[in-house]
Amino acid sequence: MMTKTRRAGITAIGAYAPSKVLSNDDLSKFMDTSDEWISTRTGIRRRHVAADDEFTADLAVSAIKDMQRRYGEAVLEGVDMVIVATNTPDAYFPSTAAMVQDYFGLKAGAFDLLAACPGWVYALSVAQAYVESGICKKVLAIGAEALTKIIDWNDRSTAVLFGDGAGATLVEAVEEPFGIKSMILGADGAGGKHLHAKAVGKCLLDGTKLGEHVYMNGSEVFKFAVRVMKTSTVEAIEQAGLKTEDISLFVPHQANLRIINAARERLELAEDKVVVTVDEYGNNSTASIPLALCHALDGGRIHAGDNLLLVSFGAGLTWAASVLTWGGGKK
Ligand code: UT7
Repeated sequence: MMTKTRRAGITAIGAYAPSKVLSNDDLSKFMDTSDEWISTRTGIRRRHVAADDEFTADLAVSAIKDMQRRYGEAVLEGVDMVIVATNTPDAYFPSTAAMVQDYFGLKAGAFDLLAACPGWVYALSVAQAYVESGICKKVLAIGAEALTKIIDWNDRSTAVLFGDGAGATLVEAVEEPFGIKSMILGADGAGGKHLHAKAVGKCLLDGTKLGEHVYMNGSEVFKFAVRVMKTSTVEAIEQAGLKTEDISLFVPHQANLRIINAARERLELAEDKVVVTVDEYGNNSTASIPLALCHALDGGRIHAGDNLLLVSFGAGLTWAASVLTWGGGKK
């Protein structure tokens, strides 16, 4: 007798971006920059910034409330694991995930996951493994970020790039043909020196000194991003047993429009097959893909049965790509 494999998929989603917005012109009032430089180099026009008393756990809670608004409060019934992917936890401990678990009164395990910008895709892969192995039934995989709290507002080369936000997804067993069809995860720690932010250490193992704020070698990360966006998406499509023409929508990490366009061109995807939200949110790291997914859903661009291609990259250096067939199409 053939054993039926259980396949995990996303069955609900929600997102949140803080109400405070900083435009490029707002930044140019207190920093030596311009709308012209930022928009032509990055595609970013605005970014949402958490209020002084708003932190990552608040953003995660708001994204889940948005999920409840879309699918009903009962959507959280039976959640048995909460994973928050974040680079900006409110505390080293307790985990942001434990705060979320308590806020919603969930009978669930909880932990944070740190994998830089691809963190939410990594969280999706963990949720997938839990569900497909039978360890958990319903997993919340969240990406939440208050990055503007750790950037140096005097460093124009990084400060203009980042924003805050959160996206929450519910992962559980789904019926064929829906669900996660491939998962490509990678890291090249030798590139750690190109993008870092200090925690308790003084330097990386290779001796690179850690400063107080986010440091980025933009052009090195740019080259790396363009390369892995292509290689990992090609692998993800192949592992899913599909061809590029089977992809309905490309939902890349929103860091820089030039990086997104370079990846799209290399994959030979039409412009209308790509979701772009970087203009509105800037780079909000782990939140960027689930937020972009929500936008695409709200814009009527995702339907049940669509094959979505997701890809992210970031500090580590790390990357992650996945193809999934959307089943949780309702709002
Ligand atoms: O989630 C993953 C995280 N990171 C990324 O995806 C970032 C990847 N890298 C990038 O997106 C791009 O490299 C940047 C947008 C960061 C920079 O673009 P670039 O075309 O690589 O510019 P650049 O670093 O070569 O800088 C060019 C010039 C420099 O001036 P000089 O030395 O040529 O006179 C910078 O000082 O632009 C200057 N500059 C700025 N000027 C106005 C740097 N930042 C700014 C700014 N406003 N905000």
